[in-house]
Amino acid sequence: MNLTATQEKSGFRPYPRQYETRARFAGHLNIFFRPIKPTDADLLREFFRSHSERTILYRYFTPLHDLPPELVQQFVNLDYHSDMAIVGMVPFEGRERMLCVGRYCRNPAANDAEIAITVHDQWQRHGIGTFLFKLLTRIARENGITGFTADVMADNHGMLRLIRKCVDNMESTLEAGVYHLWFALDNKTRAAQRHLKLGKKKASSFSDAFQRRD
Ligand SMILES: CC(C)(COP(=O)(O)OP(=O)(O)OC[C@H]1O[C@@H](n2cnc3c(N)ncnc32)[C@H](O)[C@@H]1OP(=O)(O)O)[C@@H](O)C(=O)NCCC(=O)NCCS
Repeated sequence: MNLTATQEKSGFRPYPRQYETRARFAGHLNIFFRPIKPTDADLLREFFRSHSERTILYRYFTPLHDLPPELVQQFVNLDYHSDMAIVGMVPFEGRERMLCVGRYCRNPAANDAEIAITVHDQWQRHGIGTFLFKLLTRIARENGITGFTADVMADNHGMLRLIRKCVDNMESTLEAGVYHLWFALDNKTRAAQRHLKLGKKKASSFSDAFQRRD
């Protein structure tokens, strides 16, 4: 990838080919995972247009009809250090199609990052979200990110279940039907987490609330 002077100045890094990988899932699904590229704008828009209303609401918290062009550009032009997105691609009608996106965006003030994952409606509950979550966790650690945050609607059982499966210790607050979750990615921060006092009032424990639904 050729970097422009502006990109170099602003901390953009070369396309990280080392994060390309392939995995198999139930239903003879063989997915090629790779970091998103600036040329993915059309595929990303197409992926968004395949979403159900529920998936859009869970991901964007508002009933969006389309992705605004500025947002698409923001989503495909990443510095691959503070911001990362991994897309899952499959062959489709002689070309490629996007089946999932997992991304994180670093919050420099806290050195943690907000994570969000979307899987094509037709392919949810095949283990793809879990795979993306674990891959992003590994990449974030390598890039010095010490924790993940996630905003998850209280009735989004899929994402809550996924996180609960992958994370053993987290902080949570519930506000207006949305869980704000935070969990450490490294041992040092995990230890510090035990002493952390959240500023916000803890409405209910995420683990307790979710265990009741099992
Ligand atoms: C949430 C989402 C990313 C999960 O991805 P996924 O590929 O479906 O998840 P997985 O198949 O890895 O499943 C993870 C766990 O959650 C469970 N799960 C998934 N969807 C579920 C649902 N709708 N209800 C209950 N459990 C669900 C799975 O059964 C699995 O648990 P198990 O291993 O004990 O069976 C996906 O459903 C999605 O894209 N949803 C819409 C967008 C969204 O909510 N994004 C999150 C924004 S923060």
